[in-house]
Amino acid sequence: MVEKNELSELKAELKSINLEAAKIRELPVEERADFGKKINARRQDILSKIAEAEKALLDVEVEALDVTAWSGVNESLPEFYPAELGSKHPLMTELDRVIEIYELMGFDVVESRQLDDEFHMFDSLNFPKEHPARDGYDTFRTEEGLIPPAHTSTMQHRVLKQFKKNLDNGQAIAVVVPGRVFRNEDVDATHEHTFYQCEGVYVSEDCNMGQMLGILREFFEKYYEQKLNIRTQPGYFPFTEPSLEFMIEKPKSLGGKKGDYLEMLGCGMIHPNVLKMAGIDPSKYHGFAWGGGIDRLVMLRYGLNDVRHFESGNLNFLREF
Ligand code: DAH
Repeated sequence: MVEKNELSELKAELKSINLEAAKIRELPVEERADFGKKINARRQDILSKIAEAEKALLDVEVEALDVTAWSGVNESLPEFYPAELGSKHPLMTELDRVIEIYELMGFDVVESRQLDDEFHMFDSLNFPKEHPARDGYDTFRTEEGLIPPAHTSTMQHRVLKQFKKNLDNGQAIAVVVPGRVFRNEDVDATHEHTFYQCEGVYVSEDCNMGQMLGILREFFEKYYEQKLNIRTQPGYFPFTEPSLEFMIEKPKSLGGKKGDYLEMLGCGMIHPNVLKMAGIDPSKYHGFAWGGGIDRLVMLRYGLNDVRHFESGNLNFLREF
């Protein structure tokens, strides 16, 4: 087997041959031809040895890393190499389905971000300064005072500004924002510090709450592939007025009984202050918005009873999908 230092010895030899060759000028003219022939032969010999050595080194590495021949555990590889193909995380697969449903309904999609600020988390959403409602979101904070978003509503202000031109062109703003959110709360079977939400924002001259409920019903019926009973109850969010909690009756096929209602998301008519802050005239335009957890949606669909599975990295759980 060729060693790396064998190669460097050969290269050193080539260098000294080259130095020797340069002396040809100091020789009497009649000796030069013979000298040149000899030294050239030595050079060629070293060059081909170097080429061979380099090839041998390469072959060794290719042999050790022959991933193309690797189909599962075989004798030439240590036994602890897992024969894992890898796959998309179930939440990402489901999120794709969610987005597809909204896209078919005509919504644009904007991705949320994983680090945001006080203005987008609270001020732009009409949370009064120092108001206790701010505590309700159990936000993490970085040393610099930045906030990993506790809900996808942090994107509302940006989306309203970005799509305001739709209104000038006589079109509605219709955007959904999927994203990862973070809350500093005690973790249990129904609470995670990290989870996913999807926000929806709709603004036009004449939209109303009935349309919002129609859109939400349509979404849930498409996602669960069946007709559903829905219900709302009053809620409170500083960024909507009125605010509602949207519920669906847990379908029989998913183990539900009659009257078994589950809260799926928060929603409401966008507060005039939120529109105003984004430069939209609330006396001319109205809007509705909603936001709900993806994890919860998926748990119901697959009958999962512990939200902590999703962030656990537990391969046995992931392999079930
Ligand atoms: N952001 C709220 C939460 O995480 C949910 C929500 C409520 C979003 C009302 C909305 C809304 O857009 O209009 O608790």
